[in-house]
Amino acid sequence: MRISVIGCGYLGAVHAACMAKLGHHVVGIDVDPKKISALSSAKAPFYEPGLDELLREVQATGRLSFTSEMSKAAGSTVHFVCVGTPQKRGENGADMTYVDAAIDSLLPYLEPGNVVVGKSTVPVGTAARLASVIGEQLDAHLLWNPEFLREGHAVSDTLNPDRFVYGVSDGSEEHEAVSILDDVYAQPLAEGTPRLVTDHATAELVKAAANSFLATKISFINAMAEVCEATGADVTRLADALGMDDRIGRKFLNAGIGFGGGCLPKDIRAFMARAGELGADQALTFLREVDAINMRRRTRVVELTRELCDGILLGKRITVLGAAFKPESDDVRDSPALSIAAQLQLQGAVVTVTDPKALSNAAKRFPELQYERALEIAVSRSDALLLLTEWQEYRDLDPYELAGAVSSQRILDGRNVLDAAKWRAAGWTYRGLGRP
Ligand code: UDX
Repeated sequence: MRISVIGCGYLGAVHAACMAKLGHHVVGIDVDPKKISALSSAKAPFYEPGLDELLREVQATGRLSFTSEMSKAAGSTVHFVCVGTPQKRGENGADMTYVDAAIDSLLPYLEPGNVVVGKSTVPVGTAARLASVIGEQLDAHLLWNPEFLREGHAVSDTLNPDRFVYGVSDGSEEHEAVSILDDVYAQPLAEGTPRLVTDHATAELVKAAANSFLATKISFINAMAEVCEATGADVTRLADALGMDDRIGRKFLNAGIGFGGGCLPKDIRAFMARAGELGADQALTFLREVDAINMRRRTRVVELTRELCDGILLGKRITVLGAAFKPESDDVRDSPALSIAAQLQLQGAVVTVTDPKALSNAAKRFPELQYERALEIAVSRSDALLLLTEWQEYRDLDPYELAGAVSSQRILDGRNVLDAAKWRAAGWTYRGLGRP
């Protein structure tokens, strides 16, 4: 099938490559010429494991191309809308400028029978609004197909998702667009991926609700971490025990510095804002608490670092291990690690940040922080190490080897991934979050 993918960021670039991998002829379209030129030479404009290899593989087949000209969408049967919906400046709601602009510029090239498939995370009601814009002009369809991929696992999450959700205007399996999208996803469907057909609003809500649930789960365990800190209990053992109840499950119960990234924080805020517009704000007031618990973790880490440094941050050399919002990503959007690094610096600490992949993005966002790629230089003469993004190379650090490099053997494990007993035995003052 001929497919266009509009928007080639974290979502669209991966989606375009994966659709070509499934055997389709794909054109990726983006207004940013830098992204297009990188992608055209099979280079992802961001770090995502396996993506460069996949781009090389599918571009060699001739089935994948990239352009900044929307006219190249003409002739495709399916048009995926994958543009960003960031948080509006100074407001909680989602900024719909890019989605609206994508649809407006696509309209002249749509043909009757085409299917526009929305993948961006949008406020509920958007699909119905866009369907009427498209339907008024010609006999094309609008299907909402939310994307659940995680950065760091984007390729496998796209090719083998847990489920497909198709939102169509009448919520019916018989809708013409359903069988067209089934053809696009024929391979994963044949492999057994479940597929649910819903109305537009339900499909949009599945995404908002899923991210809210995940954020709530993380904030729940971080709230337990606060209680553990007050009682001397260990939140990691608590999470292990809770997770053995298969109604609860162990995933997303890792207490630490909280969630960040380009999705969870802005999506729960946009969801609250939308519920307010719909007169259902009371239903989601708990998300305000979820957000507040999450933000409190960052302040808590600053306070714990001060305690670790004998009550004084001024002039202390602090090394922050990790800048990305999570490992296997170079994304620093709303990264709790960077936010903590910046707060420590503001309070007079001399902060050096290291990360295997995210330093150039970090430097654009927080140019005032010091960055050092080489781990051995970053840790040298440090008064305290803060492990804030759990890259494997930081999990594997040897406390005995590291002891000689630092000024003081103090470590704060912001992700609770180190073996506390081992680090203490090697002479370190170890602090975890929600752990004695
Ligand atoms: C998330 C959703 O998982 C995905 O389905 C959706 O499509 C986009 O948003 P992503 O932002 O890539 O994906 O990251 P995710 O793996 O969900 O992690 C989000 C944040 O939560 C990270 O900062 C991570 O470190 C943190 N986290 C995750 C925890 O603090 N504890 C956990 O137990 C799990």
